[in-house]
Formats: sequence, structure tokens, C-alpha cells
Amino acid sequence: MNYRHAYHAGNFADVLKHAVLVGLIEALKQKATPFCVLDTHAGRARYSLQSEEAEKTREYTAGILPLLGLAQLPSLLHVYLNVVRSFNPGTGHGLHIYPGSPLIAASLLRANDRLMACELEPGEAQALRAEFAGDARVACHHRDGYEAMRALLPPKEKRGLVLIDPPFETQLGEFDDVLAALAVAHTRWPTGCYAVWYPIKLRHDAEHFYRRLAALPFGKILIAELCLHEPNSALRLNGCGIALINPPWRFDTALAEILSALAEALRQSRYGSHELRWLKNEG
Ligand SMILES: C[S@@+](CC[C@H](N)C(=O)[O-])C[C@H]1O[C@@H](n2cnc3c(N)ncnc32)[C@H](O)[C@@H]1O
Repeated sequence: MNYRHAYHAGNFADVLKHAVLVGLIEALKQKATPFCVLDTHAGRARYSLQSEEAEKTREYTAGILPLLGLAQLPSLLHVYLNVVRSFNPGTGHGLHIYPGSPLIAASLLRANDRLMACELEPGEAQALRAEFAGDARVACHHRDGYEAMRALLPPKEKRGLVLIDPPFETQLGEFDDVLAALAVAHTRWPTGCYAVWYPIKLRHDAEHFYRRLAALPFGKILIAELCLHEPNSALRLNGCGIALINPPWRFDTALAEILSALAEALRQSRYGSHELRWLKNEG
């Protein structure tokens, strides 16, 4: 495993994924009963934007940074930005730390909600465990996130969210792993909410993924895409998407607002597109 999220922390893909994560957790908090978040590919939780890796790519300067200065945003984006700011006290519109998905989720959990965070790379898993030492709501697992979906679902709360955010190092092979894990997850927890992040490099690869996703036995699948460049090259991350299986009631309305605000704020060139559509919306 060569992938290190430190090179990409706070980039446009993180912004879309984490804004959606915040929206989903806030929706779960509409009910008083506890819920559980399973983060299958959690990373190290906390990223220094002054690290050698972040300095090398500076991807966050085209992601989280431009958002921080904006005032007119949908309320869920303000919740997300306030979480990010809470790790950067006294830095104004500058940033030193970018919180990864487990840290964002843990920031929003209530006392009785739980987070199970999985990470396979040993150094990242150690950092993850150190971050949450002493937080009884969070269980960190040094294990394969796909295997954890088989072993840990459904959560005892029978309410919650599974975030699947693989590195896609094997490119198309990772789509196979995601789809296989979701097929098993359906047998264990068909009503669970699953959020899958995926890269968009070539349009036809994304469409192929959608056809296979739609063939799974889940009844409701919503996809949100954000492309900064035309998806016509396998050599760069032109865009990304989130597929939401069993999203909360009316989440499509909230997501439409988030997506158009992000598309506007993060636009890099004349090309820029975003799309929200139901792959399946049964029953
Ligand atoms: C895209 S990063 C995760 C970023 C994190 N979800 C966030 O939003 O802050 C993917 C992570 O998955 C880890 N990883 C790779 N294969 C894995 C597997 N099979 N199970 C669990 N973690 C894995 C990588 O080491 C990497 O830290």
C-alpha cells in the first residue's frame, strides 16, 4: 500500500465527501436514538497541512481553503467549516490542521453515538488509535475495511451510516471490491445507509460503475458528482462522486444545495459540472 492521504487532505474530493458526511450525520441526529458510523477506510484522522506531503501537492489550496472565506453558503457547509475551524483556533482564514473523516464524524457524535474506524496501513492505524485514545465512543480497528463490513454489520443500534472511502490504488479493481462488499452488506444490513466515494477520471468508467451499482438489490441509490475538469483522461482526478445507498428522507434536497455551492466555489476552469441523480428510487 503506497497511498498516503496526507498528500490529498483537504482537496476538492475531501471537501465533497466530508460535506456529505456532515450532512448525513446531522440527519441521523434528527432522532434521539443512538446511531453508529462505520468508517471502513479511515486514514490517520488528523493531517498537518504543513507536512512535507501536504506542502508538496498543496491540494488543499483548491479545496478547503477557498471555501473558508465564503459567507453565503448552505447551513450544512457552515457546520462542516466550523468543524474544520475548531481544529485551527486563532488561524483566521489560514489552516494548519485538516481533520479526516473519523475526526469529523467524532466531532459531531453525541455521547451515546458510536464510531468504528478501520485502517489497514500500520502507521496510519497507529496514528488513528492514538487520536482517539480515551474516547470511549470510538473503536479503532487495524483491519481490512471490507472484511469489517462483513464482521461488524449490522451495528447493534440498527441505525447509522457506513462510509466507504478506498484509495483506488488499483484503479478499476477497487470498484470490484466495493461492489462485492456492498453485495454482502445487503445480505447483512439491507436498510443501512452507505456512502461510497469514487474517483471520476473517464466518463465511461463512472457509467460502468453506475450500471453495476444499480444491479445491486438496494432500492434507493442517489449519486452526486462534482467534476472540475472534463472526465476524459485516466491520468488525473478530473472529478469525483459519492453514491448514497438508502440516504435519509429528503437528503437529495440538501445535497442539491451543497453540490451547487461547492461547484461554484471550487470551479477551476471553464469546464465544471455537477450532477445529482437517482440511479434507483424504488418504493
Ligand atoms: C482515501 S484514504 C481515507 C481518507 C479518510 N476516509 C478521510 O476522509 O479522511 C484511504 C485509506 O484507506 C487505507 N486502506 C487501504 N486499503 C484498505 C483496506 N482494505 N481496509 C482499510 N483501510 C485501507 C489507506 O491506507 C488510506 O489511509
